[in-house]
This record gives sequence, C-alpha cells and structure tokens, in this order.
Amino acid sequence: MGKGLKWSDVTPKTQWLNRRHLLAGGAALMAAPAMAQGTASRFSADATPNTFEEITTYNNFYEFGLDKGDPARNARLLTTDPWSVEIDGLVERPGRYDLADILKDAPLEERIYRFRCVEAWSMVIPWVGFELAHLLNKAGVQPGARYVAFETLLRPEEMPGQQTRSLDWPYREGLRLDEAMHPLTILATGLYGEAMPNQNGAPIRLVVPWKYGFKSIKSIVRIRLTETQPQTTWNMQNPREYGFYSNVNPEVDHPRWSQASERRVGAGIFAGREDTLMFNGYGEEVASLYAGMDLSKDY
Ligand code: MTE
Repeated sequence: MGKGLKWSDVTPKTQWLNRRHLLAGGAALMAAPAMAQGTASRFSADATPNTFEEITTYNNFYEFGLDKGDPARNARLLTTDPWSVEIDGLVERPGRYDLADILKDAPLEERIYRFRCVEAWSMVIPWVGFELAHLLNKAGVQPGARYVAFETLLRPEEMPGQQTRSLDWPYREGLRLDEAMHPLTILATGLYGEAMPNQNGAPIRLVVPWKYGFKSIKSIVRIRLTETQPQTTWNMQNPREYGFYSNVNPEVDHPRWSQASERRVGAGIFAGREDTLMFNGYGEEVASLYAGMDLSKDY
C-alpha cells in the first residue's frame, strides 16, 4: 500500500463490509452475521462516509485540547488497556465490568451514521459497535430507573486538558432511559473496521446519532442508572445554549448561530451548505420518543 494511504481510503465499501473479523482492543472478534454477509445494518445511512483521515484529525475531545487537531496529537498518551466500566445505581448487577467481558458476547456490527456537531459541521462515520441496550440488559435495569448517566475517564496525567479548567471534569452526559434503550443508540468500539482511535474516544464511547455530537461521550468509565435527570457537562456550563435533550433540530437555533444548515467536513470550499434535518434525519425512528413534548422549550 502506498505511503500515506490507509487501507480505508482505498478499500471499496463492499469489501470492508465483508470483513469477517474486526479488531477491537487487540482481540479478533466475530462480526455480526449481517456484516459477514456484506449487508450493512438496517440502521445505516445510505451516504458515503468521510475518510478515515477526516474522522481522526478533526475532533472535539477537550481532555486533549481545544483545537480540532489537538486530540490526534495528544491522545496518543492515553492508556486504554486495561479498561473497565463501573455500572451502578438502579441495576440488578452493579459492579466493575471488564471491557474484555463486555465485548465477549457483544453483538458487534457496523453502523454508518450521520454525525452532526452543535457547531454546525457534520460527517458520516462508519462506526463499529453494539446497542447500549445490550449492556444495560446485561446489568439488569431496575424498574425505578428513568435516566442513564455516563462519565469519561478522569486521568489528568494522561489528559492534559484536565489540568486546565476548560470544563468541569470529568466530562459527563446523560440520556433518558428510553433514549438509551433505543436501537440506534450504540456503544462504539471502533470505526472503519479498526479499533477505536484514541482521539475518537477509545476504547468505548457512546454514539447517539439524532442528537448533537456533544451528547456522544467518549472514553466511558462509568454508567449509572438513576431516577432523576443527571447533571451533564455542557448543560451545567451553559443551560441556555446546551439543553439536556439536544436533539438535532433545524428550527431551534443555538443562541449564537443558526442550526438550519451544516457544513459537511471534507466537502470542499465550493460545496454548498446542506440543510440540517430534524433529528439529523432519524425522525422516523425516534420522533415518537418525544410525542407531546414542545421541543422548542424542552431542548
Ligand atoms: N467526550 C468527551 N469526553 N470530551 C469531549 O470533549 N466532545 C464531544 C463528543 N464527546 C467530547 C466528548 C463533542 S462536542 C463532539 S462533536 C464529539 O465528541 C466529537 O466526536 P469525534 O471527535 O469522534 O467526531
């Protein structure tokens, strides 16, 4: 393969859909049957993904700096093995779950999702992951649980951004339980069939494709089931600008910029902006979750 070219840049989509093994965390894992047969998940978007290069060099991961190129430079320092996720709160089987154990029976599949940042740029990303519902069911959700809270690793010695006060660490996010159990909501452990690059949230991160990107918390070490709505980092920082729900919505502008359109990363300077779609185009699947809510008030 030529210098500077990655296999993902030159491998046709059908071929990487056919890969039987996905490397994640160093262990070869069997892909879901749908992938082995060469068909993408029924949840995958029919859009051409951004390149591996674009997805891994234009990032938001404030633990590694504020500029888009900082995570790719600085996240090399992060140790992602061993890794475990503490699952507690209103669950039947609380405890520290080893990532290797989580992945042992996780039904991994490829999900090609549109990804829309609140800053009004977007990408299409071929994630590898499994439904969050799988892990929550493994831990056993108690009847009283209504929300799911997530936390990123707190390790300032490896995460230079945590030595500053750019955010209130550790990074925290949350979902309502029905959002968390929705089949579109995944825990991703890779992209383009490779183990998750550190700058994209290795070794395991959330992806909620109908919400602004900041809800998709990276490098998760804790998942807690709660009765009340958890505190979340950006919402605490500025509740007017970053609502708890933060569903992609072209009709509710961010106080400092319009959300009606977006710039596709890598589209080139002559490409026009694209219209932003309600729920980032996933309305058919998720609109019913918000029936009866006024999304211009409860954003
Ligand atoms: N998770 C943590 N822990 N720290 C962050 O700074 N940034 C969020 C989200 N998850 C962030 C995070 C934001 S604003 C976006 S747009 C996405 O990660 C970016 O994901 P990507 O770099 O994989 O595209």
